[in-house]
Amino acid sequence: HTLSILQEFQIESSLSISRLRQIVDAMTVEMHAGLASEGGSKLRMLLSYVDNLPTGDEQGLYYGLDLGGTNFRVLRVQLGGKEGRVIKQEYEEVPIPPQLMVGTNEELFDYIATKLAHFVEKEGDGFHPRPGQDRELGFTFSFPVKQLSIDSGCLLKWTKGFAISDGIGKDVVQSLQEAMKKQGVNMRVAALVNDTVGTLAGARYWNEDVMMAVILGTGTNACYVERAEAITKYQGETPKSGTMVINMEWGNFWSSLLPKTSYDEDLDSESLNPGEQGFEKLISGMYLGDIVRRVLLRMSEESFLFGTEVPPSLFKQFVLRTPDLSKMHQDESSDLREVGRILKHALGIANTPLKVRKIVVELCDLVTERGAKLCGAGIVGVLKKIGRDGSTAGSRAKSESGRAKKTVVAMDGGLYEHYPNFRRYLKETVEDLLGEEAYANVSVELSKDGSGIGAALLAASHSKYN
Ligand code: BG6
Ligand code: GLC
Repeated sequence: HTLSILQEFQIESSLSISRLRQIVDAMTVEMHAGLASEGGSKLRMLLSYVDNLPTGDEQGLYYGLDLGGTNFRVLRVQLGGKEGRVIKQEYEEVPIPPQLMVGTNEELFDYIATKLAHFVEKEGDGFHPRPGQDRELGFTFSFPVKQLSIDSGCLLKWTKGFAISDGIGKDVVQSLQEAMKKQGVNMRVAALVNDTVGTLAGARYWNEDVMMAVILGTGTNACYVERAEAITKYQGETPKSGTMVINMEWGNFWSSLLPKTSYDEDLDSESLNPGEQGFEKLISGMYLGDIVRRVLLRMSEESFLFGTEVPPSLFKQFVLRTPDLSKMHQDESSDLREVGRILKHALGIANTPLKVRKIVVELCDLVTERGAKLCGAGIVGVLKKIGRDGSTAGSRAKSESGRAKKTVVAMDGGLYEHYPNFRRYLKETVEDLLGEEAYANVSVELSKDGSGIGAALLAASHSKYN
């Protein structure tokens, strides 16, 4: 019976290349709908107001504050323009205490501002604030925000592990600015950006072929450079560059083509945000481990996978974490020793026979393959939308040198960085969907920790002293 549960999961979660192609198309259709009007799609396609990306000319001292999924980071960077680039950089990473993720808005921002204040106090040699001018900060805030300008925006909803009800609808820049004032930090928030946008900006600073950024961490999301005239819902002035970065919030993408199983349905209904972030719940680091746990629970209830008693740990949401999956999945020892060790330490299940360990690895593989393929299809959907997938007239347009344009997709987040099999499936999918020729011009690259510095760079280009 265990094998039939496994097989059933395999069938329900499998994604043929033709199904993936349909998902690519569904993504582009939803992108158009989200760009056409507010509420036109589950894909919000949020305006970032970032209409010029870093060039390398940025100069001066800037701060960055990066509130991600599990940690937040403060950093400062001294920029030296084209010649000097990043002259000096320092950062600190602080875990977000879990109770703050579900507390009040004020508590969260007070905590952040306190850490920022400590960090600012330690500013030492090599950093040169401009005399008489306030320090400026780029704020990376990794949640959906409706922006009205580069330096303001109201929180639409929380995602991932956050649920702070009095935060919704508030201007996050104002919340931060008030908290900083209480701590005596004299700093101006010059740019508010999503982590995808920060990553795009950080990667673009080094490489002008970067057109898209994807986060695969606790959550997942993507942003890309869109032509302003394609953003029908945008009523503002046409930017000089003719482009604007769009924060897709693709975690909330949905299509009936997505392979949702009963485990996914249960995960969703027991989550902090039922009915929301459907794509994210199939892909991102917060959820993959819990999908595996749910299948294991069913196997042990219905077919006694771990003996006659169901291990109590299997009832606990999120006990099996995605880093555990990655380690088990990579175990190449003949007796799957690492799998045995993790089952014992994470789940309290000792002395598992080899055939049970093999089933666990198989499950990790199925869940990872599904998530990575979906993400790959999402990436190709975006490339198709911007004519960089090799199939449309746009992408055949050659650059001045006569060669096809290169496109770099900047990737960041713990899942991408620390899960080699996920990475492999993702790249294979992008390659399969694009075909060899188009894939030769696309490069999917890790751009580690670029989002904080990206926000600092955008603060520089949107400084009030420019
Ligand atoms: C980091 C980026 O590397 O990854 C952050 O700098 C981003 O901006 C984060 O939010 C996502 O990872 P996680 O695992 O914290 O959600
Ligand atoms: C969630 C957030 C999104 C963020 C992503 C990655 O999907 O809603 O804003 O970019 O996680 O951190």
